[in-house]
Amino acid sequence: MTQPSPPAPTVRVAVLGCGAVGAALVAHLQSRADTLAVQSGARIEIAGVAVADLSRARPAHVEKDLLTDDAASLVVDPSVDIVIELIGGLEPAGSLIRAALESGKPVVTANKELLASSEGVALRALAHERGVDLLYEAAVAGAIPLVRVLRESLTGERIRRVMGIVNGTTNFILTKMADDGTEYAEVLARAQELGLAERDPTADVEGHDAAAKTAILAGVAMGYDVVTSDVPREGITHIGSVDIEFAARFDYVVKLLAVVERIGEDEISARVHPAMVPKSHPLAGVRDAYNAVFIEGDWAGELMLYGQGAGGQPTASAVMGDLIDATRNRLGRTTSPVPERQPGSLHPAADLRSAYYLTIDVEDRPGVLGLVSTVFGQHNVSIRSMEQIEQEELIGLARLIFLTHAAREGDMNETIDALAALDAVKRVGSTIRVFGDEEE
Ligand SMILES: NC(=O)c1ccc[n+]([C@@H]2O[C@H](COP(=O)([O-])OP(=O)(O)OC[C@H]3O[C@@H](n4cnc5c(N)ncnc54)[C@H](OP(=O)(O)O)[C@@H]3O)[C@@H](O)[C@H]2O)c1
Repeated sequence: MTQPSPPAPTVRVAVLGCGAVGAALVAHLQSRADTLAVQSGARIEIAGVAVADLSRARPAHVEKDLLTDDAASLVVDPSVDIVIELIGGLEPAGSLIRAALESGKPVVTANKELLASSEGVALRALAHERGVDLLYEAAVAGAIPLVRVLRESLTGERIRRVMGIVNGTTNFILTKMADDGTEYAEVLARAQELGLAERDPTADVEGHDAAAKTAILAGVAMGYDVVTSDVPREGITHIGSVDIEFAARFDYVVKLLAVVERIGEDEISARVHPAMVPKSHPLAGVRDAYNAVFIEGDWAGELMLYGQGAGGQPTASAVMGDLIDATRNRLGRTTSPVPERQPGSLHPAADLRSAYYLTIDVEDRPGVLGLVSTVFGQHNVSIRSMEQIEQEELIGLARLIFLTHAAREGDMNETIDALAALDAVKRVGSTIRVFGDEEE
């Protein structure tokens, strides 16, 4: 007679935060409990759900008895095996994760802001030192399986460059500006009405959110400890429909790119900026609030991961994947692989090379073009083409649009400053890098 198999062990999880992601995760854990037991090898039980305000109304599926406003006690409760941090921000999330790791409990988090800070670097080191999982698939590009792909599937690969559209709000705005010829402010208002942009959109439109994700990617893809403030960043607020139209005429699409790339053997560049991407490039077809990450490796060549970068359910899906990993690892007394840390430095942004698109509004009189061209030449920036366009609102002025050959960023910045200082130049408009023309 065959013996009945022993009952699956139980793993108890503390869920910290019950907002968009936390509430979706709780629903997922409840509705798929049997499947999750098969997948993870344990029955996953919710030990408690920590929130800030116990009086706030919660979705019906969140049992009142599970709620607590004492996250610190829940984390160190001896019956809790795994901690899932979905509060966000630096504190108290940082202290709660530290307490969990110090008591040997694996942590799953979606907190990009914390992970891309110096405390995030310290927490990763602590987890490594203690031999405990700190997993964060959901922190970059929501539902897209990116961290695990870089950390595990591509672990034998020398990654040359990771380039992504990692902010859905800005991608939505740029897509609609291109589709409808609408100006930035009008599309931003529409995105806010649709719930795709925050009331205060600064973190998205100025590139802070993308910079945090870029810092995390630098660690996962290249093994460098980078924090958000290390990442040079430009947002999309200066981009007008005229720039997008010009890009379209030359078969480019304007995208906000997060870029991490190797420069030589022991330097990397990590940066966020808008760029004109050729329409033929796979990233150019990523529309609306979707995210995508394009990876280039020495042997694997080019590959792209695409999907929903935000939202309660997509993000909770990535958290679930990490939770199942952490559960299996706990049962198997092991941890997920972590990228080997590399000693190295960030390449100075001023030395990066790119072709540029630049617009300036100048006095419409003889001699001005000569003055302007001289400024480019004095700073080693070579003009590839120049076009003058008529704008009804520009009385007595002309708008000049330049495309340059590849130039050093430092030289380009000096050119812009020198142009702005000319009496004949009334306004320096958008400056956008042209992707793919770095090396000529
Ligand atoms: N939403 C997304 O699309 C998305 C995508 C990717 C990553 N993420 C990341 O996922 C995390 C959670 O995001 P979210 O959108 O779910 O945030 P959220 O909707 O603002 O929810 C935050 C939750 O944390 C709770 N909280 C705040 N302070 C607390 C404290 N001191 N102790 C215990 N609980 C506390 C809040 O409690 P109350 O409910 O009582 O206020 C709330 O339930 C963040 O790190 C975010 O960056 C989110």
